[in-house]
Amino acid sequence: MGLLEFATWLQATPVSLAIQSTAWVVPTLQSVHILMIGVVFVAVLMIALRVLGRARADEPFARVWARFAPFLWGGVLVMAITGLLLTLSEPVRELMTLSFRLKMLLLAVVLASAAAFGRTMARAARAPAGAAAGAEFSTGTRVAAAATVLLWLVVIFLGRAIAYDDAIWGSWSPAVVQGTP
Ligand code: HEM
Repeated sequence: MGLLEFATWLQATPVSLAIQSTAWVVPTLQSVHILMIGVVFVAVLMIALRVLGRARADEPFARVWARFAPFLWGGVLVMAITGLLLTLSEPVRELMTLSFRLKMLLLAVVLASAAAFGRTMARAARAPAGAAAGAEFSTGTRVAAAATVLLWLVVIFLGRAIAYDDAIWGSWSPAVVQGTP
C-alpha cells in the first residue's frame, strides 16, 4: 500500500470521519496548535538567548533551562496531540505535501537537539558544585543555539506552507504529482 492509498484509507476511518463531521473541532485544534507555537518558540528563544548571553545572563544557565524547558516539552506535547488529530482529519491533504514531510523531518532534528541539550543539563546538575554554574558556552554551542532558533522558524514556516504546498514547491509537491491538492 502506497502513502496515498494509506492516507485515503485513513480518511475513511470512523475516527477521521468523527473529526471531520463536527464543524468546531478542526478550528479549535488549529487555534490550540497556533497558540502553542508561541509558547514553544518563546521557550526556545529564551534558552537560546541565555546561551548567547543576551538574556538572563545574571542567572546560571541551569536555572534558565529548568524555568523554560517544561514550557518547551509541554507545548510540544500539546502540538503533537493537536497536530496528530489535524493530520487524522485530512490525511490526504497533509501526508501528500512536501511541506508536511519536511516539517516532520526537521521537527525530529530540533527535538533531538533539545533532548541532547536536556541530557547535558542533567549531567551538569549531577556534576560537582560549580561545574555547571557560570560556565560560558563555546563558540560551537553558541552557533548551534542560533541555528536552532532558525530551524524552529523554518518548522513554523513549513507548518504554514502545508496549505500552499503546490504554489511553493511546484512540481516537487507530491500533491501536484498525485493530483490531490
Ligand atoms: C508532531 C507534531 C506536529 C504535527 C503532527 C503537526 C501537524 C500539523 C498539521 C496537520 C497542520 C495543519 C496544516 C494545514 O492543513 O494547513 C499543522 C499546522 C501548523 N503547524 Fe504543526 N504539527 C506538529 C508540530 C508543530 C510544531 C512543533 C510547530 C512549530 C513550532 C508547528 C507549526 C505549525 C504551523 C505554523 C501550522 C499552520 C497553522 C495555520 O496556519 O493554520 N507544528 N501542523
